Amino acid sequence: LFIVHITPELASVAKVGGLADVVFGLTRELAIRGNHVEIILPKYASLRYDQIFELHEVYQDLWVPWYNGAIHCTVFFGFVHGRKCFFIEPHSADNFFNRHSIYGFNDDVLRYAFFSRAAIEFLWKAGKHPDIIHCHDWQTSLVPVHLYEQYQALGMTHPRVCTTIHNFAHQGITGPDLLRATGLHRPEYFFSHTRLGDHRHPNALNLLKGGIVYSNFVTTVSPRYAFETKDQGQGFGLEPVLHTHHIKYGGVVNGIDYDVWNPEVDPHIPVQYGVDSLERKYDNKRALRQRLMLADNEKAIVAFIGRLDPQKGLELVRHAIFNTLERGAQFVLLGSSPDDRINADFWGLKRMLNDSPDCHLEIGFDEDLSHLIYAGADMMLVPSRFEPCGLTQLIALRYGTIPVVRTVGGLADTIFDKDHSNRPLHERNGYVFNDYDHRGLESALGRAIDCYNAFPEHFRELMKNAMRCDYSWNQPGQDYLNIYDYIRDV
Ligand code: ADP
Ligand code: GLC
Repeated sequence: LFIVHITPELASVAKVGGLADVVFGLTRELAIRGNHVEIILPKYASLRYDQIFELHEVYQDLWVPWYNGAIHCTVFFGFVHGRKCFFIEPHSADNFFNRHSIYGFNDDVLRYAFFSRAAIEFLWKAGKHPDIIHCHDWQTSLVPVHLYEQYQALGMTHPRVCTTIHNFAHQGITGPDLLRATGLHRPEYFFSHTRLGDHRHPNALNLLKGGIVYSNFVTTVSPRYAFETKDQGQGFGLEPVLHTHHIKYGGVVNGIDYDVWNPEVDPHIPVQYGVDSLERKYDNKRALRQRLMLADNEKAIVAFIGRLDPQKGLELVRHAIFNTLERGAQFVLLGSSPDDRINADFWGLKRMLNDSPDCHLEIGFDEDLSHLIYAGADMMLVPSRFEPCGLTQLIALRYGTIPVVRTVGGLADTIFDKDHSNRPLHERNGYVFNDYDHRGLESALGRAIDCYNAFPEHFRELMKNAMRCDYSWNQPGQDYLNIYDYIRDV
C-alpha cells in the first residue's frame, strides 16, 4: 500500500508528546511490512535539523488557496532515521511555522487548518495517489473534509482516510472565520450538527468532529479509552458523535519503538542490560544517583516522567513525592509544561525540597536524561486523571521499572496488578489503583515500596514479567493494516 501520514509531530525532530513517538514507530513498522510510507509535516523553525538527512527543496511552486488569495509554499524532502518526510514551508505574512515552539499561539487553529489544506494540495499537485491517508488529532482533521468536499469534485481519486485521536481534550474549536480562510463556504452546511457544528457552542466549528464525521475509520489509542470516550462521559462533548459513528470507531493500543527503547543496546545509558543480566540495571541506578546528586543508599527510586499537565494527575504526583520520602524511598521527577505558572509551582516545590538528599526534580525536557531515569529507577508512577494510552508505563516495562498507575484508559489495558489482577502470575507487571485520591495512590505506592524492601525476590520476578511483555509495534502495526484493508473494501 501507499500510505501517507499527515501529522503535526514526529519524534524526535518535532516532539511535544507521545503522538510524535507513535508516528515515528508506526511508520517504521508499516514500512518494514513492505508498504510505501511517506510523512507530511509543517516545516517548523524549531525542527531538530541535525536529525534530518539530505534535506532539500523538491517543490518550489505550491500555491495554497487561503481567504481570497493564495499563500506560496515551498516543500522540502528529507530523511528522519530512514523515514521519507515532506516538510511544508508557507511564506505567509503570519510566519505560520516560523516560531520558537510548535504549539501555544492564538492562531493555532488557523495555522493547522492551513497545513491540512497545504498537505492535500501538495499531494494533488505532485500527482501522488496514496491508498491510505492517516491523520492525527484535530490539527489534521480538515484533511478528510477537504478531500470529500472539494478535491473529489476536482477529480482526485478519493483515498481512504484513517484518523487517530490521541487525546479528546484538544479538539480545535473555532469561529466562522475558518470557513472564509479555507474556502469551505456554505456556513449553514458546515455548521450543521451532522458535520462540523460544535454540540456545545452554537457559533463554533469543531475540527476534530469533522475528522470523525468525514474519516472512513477513527481510532483512539486504547480500547479502554475508546469505551471511556464513547460511553463514560470522557469524550469532552463528542460522545453523541461517537455514538452516531460507532461502527467505524475503535481502540488500538500504541506500541513503542523497540530499537529506541531497548536496554540491551541503548547508547544513552552507561551500562546495557537485559532480562538475564538484571543486576547490571543497578549500575544505571548508581549513575542516575550520581548525575542527580542523590544520596547513595539502598533505597528504592520512584520516578515520574511526563508533561506537567493536569491530565497527568499533578496533585497526586505532588502527594507521591512526600509520601515516597516518608516511606524512606527516593523520588525523581522529569517534566515540564508550556504553562509557566505550572513550571513555577514545581520550581517552588523544588526549592522547598532542596535540602533533601533523596529527591530531585528536573523541570525541563531532556530526552537523554529520560533514558537514564527509565533504566535507573525502580518504579515509574503514572497517576493520570485520564490517559488515552500512555507510553511512559510501556517504556518503563521494557527497562524493568515497575509501573504504579491509576486504572484509566491505556494504563488499564496494559498494567496488571501484582496482588489483585485476574491474570496469571507471570502476566502481572505492576501496581494499580482506582480512586483518584491520596488513599488510592498510597495503597499502590505503599505496596510497591514494601515489596521492594521486604520481598526482593518477588520484586525481581515482577521485573522479569515486565521485561517479557511485548508492547512493540508488531501487533498494533498489524491492527492498523487490518483497518486499512477494511476501509479499502467498504
Ligand atoms: P503524552 O503524549 O500525554 O505526553 P505519553 O506517555 O504518551 O504522554 O508520551 C510521553 C512521551 O514523552 C514519552 O516518550 C516520555 O518519555 C516523553 N517525555 C515526556 N516528558 C518528557 C520530558 N520532560 N523530558 C523527556 N521526555 C519526556
Ligand atoms: C496523547 C495521550 C497519551 C498517548 C499519546 C500517544 O498525548 O495523552 O496518553 O499515549 O497521545 O498516542
